[in-house]
Amino acid sequence: MTILITGGAGFIGSHFARRMVRRHHVVVLDKLTYAGNLENLKDIREDRELSGRFRFYKGDICNQELVDHIMSAENIDTIVNFAAETHVDRSILSASTFIDTDMKGVFVLLEASRRYKIKKFIQISTDEVYGTAHHGAFKETDPLNPSNPYSASKAGGDRLAFAYWKTYKLPIIITRASNNYGPYQHPEKFIPLFITNAIEDLKLPLYGDGKQERDWIHVEDHCAAIDFIIENGQDGEVYNIGGGNEKYNIDTALFILSVLEKDKSMIENVKDREGHDRRYALDCTKLKTLGWLPQINFEEGLRDTIKWYEMNVSWWKQIKNDEFKKYYQTQYNHRFACKN
Ligand code: NAD
Ligand code: DAU
Repeated sequence: MTILITGGAGFIGSHFARRMVRRHHVVVLDKLTYAGNLENLKDIREDRELSGRFRFYKGDICNQELVDHIMSAENIDTIVNFAAETHVDRSILSASTFIDTDMKGVFVLLEASRRYKIKKFIQISTDEVYGTAHHGAFKETDPLNPSNPYSASKAGGDRLAFAYWKTYKLPIIITRASNNYGPYQHPEKFIPLFITNAIEDLKLPLYGDGKQERDWIHVEDHCAAIDFIIENGQDGEVYNIGGGNEKYNIDTALFILSVLEKDKSMIENVKDREGHDRRYALDCTKLKTLGWLPQINFEEGLRDTIKWYEMNVSWWKQIKNDEFKKYYQTQYNHRFACKN
């Protein structure tokens, strides 16, 4: 395969590039927004053997000319689209880039895929498109009910991809994964924010009562599932990818503090996220029946992740820079001011 990984300098995309470049030619297209980081790909770029099968383009998936150029110059036969604006809280502050990348960007990639007769297009969607799971677990056939600008724009991309299968028989597969954790995740997200704040002796801002539930999957398990789906999935299908680790946020926060041997008084209950989905839960029978199972135990995976952040302070300190501090003030000052 010659595989185009969009958003490959982000958290999940960089893990996926690292996995795939061992066996395939990999081309990464990434805009390097605040969330993109070439450091995440450093080991590939510095490896003599792997770098020979690896190309990086800085650019926007909304740029049709650039996408067309890459498709023909690199002979792309497979696309895995990770590129997205991904943080729910940022989408609540301002949704515009989410609409551009998570919807229009998908359109540009789909159109190019038609023109260049792509063999496989994987649209990386999310479990957030289902909205809150009031009871039970969502199946792939359940209706979509997104509740924030991020998940609504992802639902748009998800359904547009499906439309290109139905209408043009473009070989599309859609994946909807649950919450990922692991090394290289941007410290704006819950687990790395809480780990790095705890290391820095800063308060951990827990939204609302902390009784929201998330199903955590290790990023390596997620990437293995996508790899498996490329080989074994059926075109036109949607696959849920969950870790089977449903946890209350408060319990995850307490676990992090216990591993770091910090006091639980560091947790501060702050003003809740607007429109906060209370619970996510996925029924993954479809993928399990096909032969995939997650391998990484949550407590072990989280311990290793915490260790990684302890060992890679310079990686996240570069990200928690002045610009991040400004964002943090905008996002959190009012939350701390009106505690739950
Ligand atoms: P991330 O924010 O860490 O990375 C996103 C990457 O996309 C960044 O490198 C960024 O520079 C790039 N990007 C943004 N806009 C772009 C554009 N217009 N053109 C090209 N590149 C652009 O995100 P992540 O957590 O790695 O998520 C990757 C994908 O997986 C997203 O599509 C997300 O919706 C989906 N997803 C994430 C999770 C999760 O828990 N993190 C769970 C399910 C699905
Ligand atoms: O479920 C998949 C989704 O998971 C992905 O599609 C998104 O890209 C990804 O960001 C993630 O969305 P969440 O909103 O679930 O993740 P986040 O890390 O922002 O928050 C996880 C939970 O922790 C959520 O219930 C909100 C809570 N939280 C988060 C932050 C940043 C806090 O309590 N305090 C915080 O400071």
